[in-house]
Amino acid sequence: MLSAFCFLLQWHTATKLAEALGMSEEEVRFIGLSAVLHDIGKNVPELLPVFNLAREFNDAERAFAENHTWVGVAMLQQNGVSEAIQDMALLHHPK
Ligand SMILES: [Fe+2]
Repeated sequence: MLSAFCFLLQWHTATKLAEALGMSEEEVRFIGLSAVLHDIGKNVPELLPVFNLAREFNDAERAFAENHTWVGVAMLQQNGVSEAIQDMALLHHPK
């Protein structure tokens, strides 16, 4: 699980980049929230060890890892987070 420092670093880095690109205040806030929440689907306590393995994933582990975007969307939906942020969580990995 990421530490509070990691979340703050993600927020800071993303928002400073967005500001440097001339984005509006609303866009900067959206980018910051997206940076912090895009991998929320990895934060399932029973499954976190999968992401800390020092070896290659087996098939079951790989399947979970590849589905963390959908897990994240479900978590965000359950907590009333905007669809735009949900889309960022779902689409942050290239297919
Ligand atoms: Fe991810």
